[in-house]
Amino acid sequence: MISIGTISIAFLVILWITWRAWTFTILPKLRPNAPKQLPYAIPFVGHAFSFFGNTTALALRGRRIVGRNGKDVFSLTAMGDTIHIVTNPKHISEVHGNNASFSFHEFTEDFVKSMGLSREGISVTYGYGPSLPSWFLEKPNGFTWSTPDKSFAELVRQMHHAVFWLVLTNTNTKLVFRLLTYLLHNPELISAIRDEVAPAFSGEGLDFKLLDYDYVGTSDQCPTLDAVWCETLRLCTNSISLRCVTQDVVIGGKLLKKGSKVIIPYRLLHLDESIYGPGADEFRPQRFLEAKGREKTRLFSHWRPFGGGKSMCPGRHLAEHALKRMLVIMIFRYDFEIMGDATKIPECDETRLGTMPGTGAMSVKEGQDFWVKITESGAKGRFGEGEEWLEEKMASLQLLGITKL
Ligand code: HEM
Repeated sequence: MISIGTISIAFLVILWITWRAWTFTILPKLRPNAPKQLPYAIPFVGHAFSFFGNTTALALRGRRIVGRNGKDVFSLTAMGDTIHIVTNPKHISEVHGNNASFSFHEFTEDFVKSMGLSREGISVTYGYGPSLPSWFLEKPNGFTWSTPDKSFAELVRQMHHAVFWLVLTNTNTKLVFRLLTYLLHNPELISAIRDEVAPAFSGEGLDFKLLDYDYVGTSDQCPTLDAVWCETLRLCTNSISLRCVTQDVVIGGKLLKKGSKVIIPYRLLHLDESIYGPGADEFRPQRFLEAKGREKTRLFSHWRPFGGGKSMCPGRHLAEHALKRMLVIMIFRYDFEIMGDATKIPECDETRLGTMPGTGAMSVKEGQDFWVKITESGAKGRFGEGEEWLEEKMASLQLLGITKL
């Protein structure tokens, strides 16, 4: 006699097999223009766990299994949402260039809603309000707001985005750690940067105010510093662009339906050997230093730590400015010596929730912190007036495992 329990389980198994066959075998044949779905086991939940666990690994798997190694857009499912993954550089440009079909606002709206902004507040903010007064727009010394339509609502929207993305300033602490880590493990780069940056200091001492950033910030005058910056961001960020599909649109021959979401995971580009050559996962700033002409254009057109398109990070110059300056001052004022094994470079943690998905720079893998001895360098200069924050930053490095002994 078969029990009811056995019958129920058999029924559920048949139901599950039917669902799998329908979703991943029959439907794709009926809708050849829809992006192929990466199969999953639990309906509705889909890839939610691996998505938040390690987006890069999931995207790599999808690209290999259903994305024809980057030729096609493919789809994931997470908590009932369909998310299209775009990895082909040509398709990425199509997404960036099509503001009519892809939008970023929905995500910031959701964010401010979760922060407690009322429905009325959102409708005022995200509707178009009165124009900004001209005195507000005309700011002295060449500074202008990047508000395309100069409406008050657009300004407030940008400020909301800033709040959202300022979360990324934790990126800066992580990036100082990564930049320093790579330099300390490659001391010949420190000497090269010290040599090329030296003319940027005017007068006596190593005060911030005496550092000519225009000099430090250009790749012509300080190519090693620039190459270290580019290579560090290439290897240590897992940035994404997130878009909502606002009307049906075809990308790379695949139909993306209104209401679905799109993710562009730039880390896949950054680790692509067909772009960055063999050993694309290794720190080798020479690849940026040595590249010329078309090769250089190719490297930079795939270098996307700051995203792209309409919502490309407006804070990128600020971040570069602050981090390069800080790095220069640090390596001029201090000598660093790694205590212990100097051959093992701490790896990035792609799996930690705090760095996933796509929040910019990644954390260091648990247990891979290391100790350094920091001494005042022979170069002159103490912290100048108003530079106490640098001392605070140095202290914050201790949390990440770098410490004064
Ligand atoms: C190294 C540090 C940083 C990284 C890696 C980074 C990365 C990113 C990325 C990947 C995006 C999304 C771009 C896209 O949608 O395609 C973004 C957007 C944004 N970032 Fe940054 N960011 C950094 C620092 C900053 C800073 C310091 C600020 C503010 C001063 C800032 C302000 C913004 C804003 C306002 C947006 C939203 C733009 C929009 O909605 O149009 N970011 N950032």
